[in-house]
Amino acid sequence: MSDSAPTLAVIIGSTRPTRAGEAVARWFDARARGHGGFAVELVDLAEVNLPLLDEPHQAVKRMYEHEHTRRWSETVSRADAFAFVTPEYNHGVNGATKNAIDYLYHEWRHKPFAIVSYGGASRGLRAAQALTLSLVSLNMASAGVLSISLATHPVTDGLFAGDDALAASAASTLDEMKRLSTALRPLRD
Ligand SMILES: Cc1cc2nc3c(=O)[nH]c(=O)nc-3n(C[C@H](O)[C@H](O)[C@H](O)COP(=O)(O)O)c2cc1C
Repeated sequence: MSDSAPTLAVIIGSTRPTRAGEAVARWFDARARGHGGFAVELVDLAEVNLPLLDEPHQAVKRMYEHEHTRRWSETVSRADAFAFVTPEYNHGVNGATKNAIDYLYHEWRHKPFAIVSYGGASRGLRAAQALTLSLVSLNMASAGVLSISLATHPVTDGLFAGDDALAASAASTLDEMKRLSTALRPLRD
């Protein structure tokens, strides 16, 4: 990996104590590190620990009053691309992920994203669709969706193993994210 490799933030969206999301995210994080095209940072929303949006000004104004917002802004600013590892809750995206997105505006713009969604038979696709709508409204570009059924690919002893088809899907999504990251760079400079 070269010094100029773009930074990819792999975001663990679930904050539940018994979450499956961390295992799924660690699996994708390992694929991303193995890909070699990115400097990879694992970002855990449980550790970021944002309260429900409490900034008095809309993020577009970038007038942050709280230290937690400034820290979150720095984390998102230093990333060139994002992989949102998201559960499906009640046919939508989970609240912690949406709340973390709503905190910021400029920091997300003109950057590519992938979604790694998971759930039951629906494989988290409805969460992925809801999340895509929000991210596209921030002028972000979709590099693809990996959707995982925990019924057929369960987390066992804290580990998610995936399979060859999922690994191939992760690889092509990472390739696309790398291309989009290069293509969108001039819009951010
Ligand atoms: C609040 C809540 C709502 C859920 N709603 C759905 C759903 O709409 N569709 C689905 O496939 N699974 C649903 N599930 C099951 C989750 O897919 C499963 O619990 C998964 O492990 C949640 O991700 P997490 O463990 O990383 O939080 C729901 C789980 C929770 C906790």
